[in-house]
Amino acid sequence: MIKISVSVLSKNDDETIRKLNEVEFDYFHIDVMDGKFVKEINFPLSRIEQINKIANKPLDVHLMVDDIDFYIDNLSSFNIEYLTIHYEVFNGNIELLKKIKKKGIKCGLSVKPITDIKETFNLLDNIDLILIMSVEPGYGGQEFMPSSLEKIRILKGEIKRRNLKTIISVDGGINKENAKLCLDSGADMLVTGSYVVMSENYQVAIDSLKFNN
Ligand code: DX5
Ligand code: ZN
Repeated sequence: MIKISVSVLSKNDDETIRKLNEVEFDYFHIDVMDGKFVKEINFPLSRIEQINKIANKPLDVHLMVDDIDFYIDNLSSFNIEYLTIHYEVFNGNIELLKKIKKKGIKCGLSVKPITDIKETFNLLDNIDLILIMSVEPGYGGQEFMPSSLEKIRILKGEIKRRNLKTIISVDGGINKENAKLCLDSGADMLVTGSYVVMSENYQVAIDSLKFNN
């Protein structure tokens, strides 16, 4: 069954988190931005700590930051299922991936729309999740880029061929129209932000991604 990770980038007040606690999905997706890797600054450690206290599901943390080490050190005590760093920042430093795993957290690698997915193939053995960005990182509410579907297909082919367990997550502009295309291309997890948190009924919106296929 497809996993759903709800991004609270567009709406992250306590009331929204509590409302989401009442709804069935898998992870809270937290988009950490440092004003360097992306222009925006979001989710200071103090806010992530609060969300970690309130949320009744594990966190799926997406680090859009330059100083990966700092965040691994400061987030590792939280209830995090996946800690994902950007391929474009980590500079081939496999130690960072190992460091995440040593903390007992599953590690993910995220790729920007411009990055050739084949560049990540030699890293697939070291990661639990690969996050395909289907928008430019930085903002919620952008439009899904259809070019990400081909990336998912190529990646899925490689993962199957090598019989790996790495799961594919897709992040950005997900809605009920493109969810099926992502699943058919080989996605195992969908990150969904504004489509859910701006909707009237969170559960209906989430279920439309899973069952409206
Ligand atoms: C963009 C973020 C996404 C985004 C998803 O930088 O990584 O997680 O918040 O939100 P929507 O679904 O609104 O694109
Ligand atoms: Zn994200």
